[in-house]
Amino acid sequence: MKICWPDPFPGIHWLDEQEEQAVSDVLRRGSLFRYYGLHAPHHVETFEAVARRFYGAKHALAVNSGTGALITAMTALALGPGCEVIVPSFFWVATVGAVVQANAIPVLCEVDDSFTMDPKDLERKITSRTRLIMPVHMAGAPCDMEAIMAIADRHGIPVLEDCAQGNGGEFHGRKLGTFGKLGMFSMQMNKNVTAGEGGLLITNDEKLYERCVSAHDLGIPWVNGAPCETGSDAVTWGCGRRMSELCGSVAAVQLKKLPKIVDQMRASKRRIKALLQGTAGIQFRRLNDEAGDTGPFLILTLDDPHRAEKAAERLRDAGLASAVRIADYGLHVYYHVPGLVRKVPLSPAGNPWSLPQNQASVYDYEKGACPQSDALFARSILIPVPSRLTLEQEQQAAEAIRAAVAP
Ligand SMILES: Cc1ncc(COP(=O)(O)O)c(C=O)c1O
Repeated sequence: MKICWPDPFPGIHWLDEQEEQAVSDVLRRGSLFRYYGLHAPHHVETFEAVARRFYGAKHALAVNSGTGALITAMTALALGPGCEVIVPSFFWVATVGAVVQANAIPVLCEVDDSFTMDPKDLERKITSRTRLIMPVHMAGAPCDMEAIMAIADRHGIPVLEDCAQGNGGEFHGRKLGTFGKLGMFSMQMNKNVTAGEGGLLITNDEKLYERCVSAHDLGIPWVNGAPCETGSDAVTWGCGRRMSELCGSVAAVQLKKLPKIVDQMRASKRRIKALLQGTAGIQFRRLNDEAGDTGPFLILTLDDPHRAEKAAERLRDAGLASAVRIADYGLHVYYHVPGLVRKVPLSPAGNPWSLPQNQASVYDYEKGACPQSDALFARSILIPVPSRLTLEQEQQAAEAIRAAVAP
């Protein structure tokens, strides 16, 4: 008999009349655009205020998606030809895509057994051209931000934290997204909280915030509630990535629910792990800070790739439909991104890889570029932990996992 395992979509399972009322308010007001409408809009602004309080950041800017947030950040940081950006080997295509869109060169960094950026390899990958480090709090859990920030600070390189999958997480009691110059989040459908689509940037740097506002909209900063181009180094090129009031209304409500959602996933994951204690032949993902993990995924490492492949297949057959061997996890793994592997240019000019400014940055992205990561991905399986599980479902999952990893 198959287990009845809910779809992941963490925030979706917590939608109720609060989101419904917020969306209705937007429609009633006839104000779907964040900056004006039939009646003064306020939902995106409210979302930003909730975000500032939640993360404890001076500035928060809502945008249309996590990818939009990353691209906005690249413009705000003035990245371009001649710049290298260090990204981990385990990411989402958008992480590396934003770098390429800026005509900068992505440099892959190994992940360690935490499945996040390996600080030892990060140190090795820094060159005189490194202009940004992008740790990704992947699959819900924090990077080692102490080690990463120590390296970044020693070299004077800014950090942009990709928190798309780790929203609500912490490292040693401090919110993810607040360690680097910028933190970015996604409110896409399968994130810890969702508005269907949506993104967010947070920073304590006022000038950078002004540049983000400018870059996400018109290329012109806003001063006292109106676009204003004079006397500011925030003038750049905008990309029309504003958040709509519809998304803002849902995102504001969802963000208030984030601690509850994360608590639930973290508790379910802990109980499943406790039930699996002592199971032969598996190792749990090492967590840089267990208390700061948000819990939406369980990662297990087996002793051999063939067993891992078989186990993922058995789990899917048992009803855990999204269980996957990480080596087969599509656009989350560097060697599955065709544009990266083949260095597909953005235009016939060959950019970014053929630009003269990037000629010193010669990197390979085919499988084998990150052998430590490749070996881990081949032996590891990822199992989503939905945000509203019963104790019975947790027990059934643990039993299915035990059976799936058995020789
Ligand atoms: C690690 C990571 N970064 C960035 C993004 C991009 O976010 P969005 O889908 O909102 O554009 C995602 C979304 O899947 C992600 O998982």
